[in-house]
Amino acid sequence: MNADIIKPVTSRTLKKMKDNKEKITMLTAYDFSTAKYIDECGVDSILIGDSLGMTILGYDTTIKVTIEDMLTFTKAVSNGVKRALVVADMPFLSYHLNKEQTTLNAGRLIQAGAKAVKLEGASDFILDEVHHLTQSGINVVGHLGFTPQYINTIGGYFVQGKSYENTIKMLNAAKKLEENGAFALVLEMVPEESAKYISENISIPTIGIGAGKYCDGQVLVIDDILGKYPGNIPKFVKQYANIKEIMKDAISKYNQDVKTGEFPTKEYSFNLTEEERDKLEHNINK
Ligand code: KIV
Repeated sequence: MNADIIKPVTSRTLKKMKDNKEKITMLTAYDFSTAKYIDECGVDSILIGDSLGMTILGYDTTIKVTIEDMLTFTKAVSNGVKRALVVADMPFLSYHLNKEQTTLNAGRLIQAGAKAVKLEGASDFILDEVHHLTQSGINVVGHLGFTPQYINTIGGYFVQGKSYENTIKMLNAAKKLEENGAFALVLEMVPEESAKYISENISIPTIGIGAGKYCDGQVLVIDDILGKYPGNIPKFVKQYANIKEIMKDAISKYNQDVKTGEFPTKEYSFNLTEEERDKLEHNINK
């Protein structure tokens, strides 16, 4: 057997990892090269999050992200990935009208290279959509807790499920997502005790973001862990690098070098042969 054959991570792999108590890793990515590096580092899953509305497009929320935006970045990411499970967010309004629209939009993301789609919430309407998608052969990841596409109805960036009653409500929603075919569940900004209780009482893997260490896996936004995003960084982010400073340092040096004539030197230029140069100079001086 060829040892170089890469075994892609699937929804079944994630379930097995939960059953074996093996932690699942997920990071967001929005472009080809970042996705390639994340994949090469052995991260299990890559999410083309609609957080790209903020990190890439400079919006203040995810609400303005369109299915066309998601398709562009899903194609870019998928081209860089060999092993990780690629999940694409369904943006606001892309799964809120009817089953036909939802299936068409989810199907386009799958055709763009995603192996699953993620959608937020668990109202009866959304559960119906999840059921329909999974019945149509489209893998679905649920998303509960803080759901950024509901920012206007939630009214701010608040931790969700902060009481016994709300934790039970969230667990019931998680169970319904599982019953309707979701194969994994993102839990965002949930107290760790609540996330633990939910993770222990459903059989699909939970992937936490700001939901503590008891989730079956963790996800963070790549720009946050690399220190690239210029805005506020949430409390739950661990920053592993300061790319922003590295970028600004390199860009300032380039700017300075061009202005002072330090760049480009001969090393970075192409030259004519002596003979051609002579001809050129001769011609110019005629
Ligand atoms: O859009 C996104 O990046 C997400 C993660 C925060 C889970 O949904």
